[in-house]
Amino acid sequence: MNTAYVSATYLLSCVLFILSIRGLASPETARRGNILGMLGMASAILVTIYSPVVGEYAWLFGAIAVGGIIGTWFALKVKMTALPQMIAAFNGLGGLSSVFIAAAEIISGSQTRLESSLGLLIGAVAFSGSVVAFAKLQGLMSPKAIIFPGQQLLNLILGLSVAALCVFFILSGRNDLFYILAGISVLLGFLLVLPIGGADMPVVISVLNAYSGWAAVGIGFSLNNVLLIIVGAIVGASGTILSYIMTKAMNRSLTSVMLGGFGAETHQSAKGGGEEKTAKAGNPQDAAFIMENASKVIIVPGYGTAVAQAQHVLKELAGDLRSLYDVDVKFAIHPVAGRMPGHMNVLLAEAGVPYEDIYALEEINREFASADVAYVIGANDITNPLARTDPNAPIYGMPILEVEKAKTVFFVKRSLASGYAGVENPLFFADNTIMLYGDAKKVTEEIVGTLERK
Ligand code: TAP
Repeated sequence: MNTAYVSATYLLSCVLFILSIRGLASPETARRGNILGMLGMASAILVTIYSPVVGEYAWLFGAIAVGGIIGTWFALKVKMTALPQMIAAFNGLGGLSSVFIAAAEIISGSQTRLESSLGLLIGAVAFSGSVVAFAKLQGLMSPKAIIFPGQQLLNLILGLSVAALCVFFILSGRNDLFYILAGISVLLGFLLVLPIGGADMPVVISVLNAYSGWAAVGIGFSLNNVLLIIVGAIVGASGTILSYIMTKAMNRSLTSVMLGGFGAETHQSAKGGGEEKTAKAGNPQDAAFIMENASKVIIVPGYGTAVAQAQHVLKELAGDLRSLYDVDVKFAIHPVAGRMPGHMNVLLAEAGVPYEDIYALEEINREFASADVAYVIGANDITNPLARTDPNAPIYGMPILEVEKAKTVFFVKRSLASGYAGVENPLFFADNTIMLYGDAKKVTEEIVGTLERK
């Protein structure tokens, strides 16, 4: 295939990727966006196979087969609740592939040392940072911030060493420096993510996603591959914008995030202060009675909704309250509810909850004061008022859903355990809170059963 056809198909792929990102911006068009992305990737792979630069087909098809089988296996087997760690793993693999391509370029005597070293540096940080993020999300290590004295100074020294080594590597022409650069960059990635506590993981995932994109841009320049440059820039830019949105949601600063260690000033979870506290427990029948007599109910889903797969029964609950009891029902979504950006939107969309019933934090917060019931289902950190009042809490500064302003707050969860950030939630002990202990789906099914039997 001649290069003009290759360039034209690359251009087509880029257009498809841009339309794909556009489609993914809304749940209504996300499916179409996904299909466009798959078409873009398929045409990019096909044209690359037939492009004149490819000479060794055995390796190429071998790699496609191995990657394709692993990817298909993951896509079929991984549960919805494990998607965040899968994203972290894929970000890491993206970074690692940039490292390998940079190494191949240097070994083959390429003169694109600046581009290769940038691809290597960012890719290596994305790789090792993603390994830590994966381990924290998968529960292989504690999600809490790991902090030691002099950590930020060490990160600064490593960062400056990497920058100096990069310059020396480019100017000196010495290839052995490449491996030292790779080693320090990998170490830096580990150290940047270690001090980040559970509550700040949403920002880390999107930052690492951006890093893997920018690494691909470096490699694209090194290989002189326009497609890689454009796609890398799309991933890098959208990851950076997502990071910005996440930092806004968490009330953090993007600069401190990009430099790493931004969770380091926060401490371990604030505990209850020693005094005996009791939480009132109710049952699904009580909850059904209070809800059917309510004028307004706001449903607040969190990570436990995803674990229990309670989204379908939540839709039923909303439908019954409206049709049988004329209750105004709204869904409230916190931007970091669950374990990945848009997690709750995806769940509710899957159950067919209409988009107009779903409200973002800033739209719904003013409505809790006029709500009779806040039905908080498998959510915890996103409602925790310590985010406003306790500077020692790792979630301090994060805007929360102000469910406590509702007349009655139901918390559906299995225990009084804390959420991902490891902070006890004082709302469990508030006068207007009733705990509904149990699995989110089962408890809601019982409420729906009671409502429908009347
Ligand atoms: P969490 O604060 O983690 O609370 C979820 C609650 O669900 C837990 O306290 C758990 O309590 C309960 N739960 C688990 N399984 C359940 C089940 N089967 N039935 C009923 N309840 C169940 O979740 P959240 O409120 O959604 O907040 C999200 C947290 O994750 C934030 O700290 C956020 O920063 C962090 N995070 C978010 C992301 C993104 S991008 N969204 C990524 C990484 C981390 P029990 O064990 O008592 O049942």
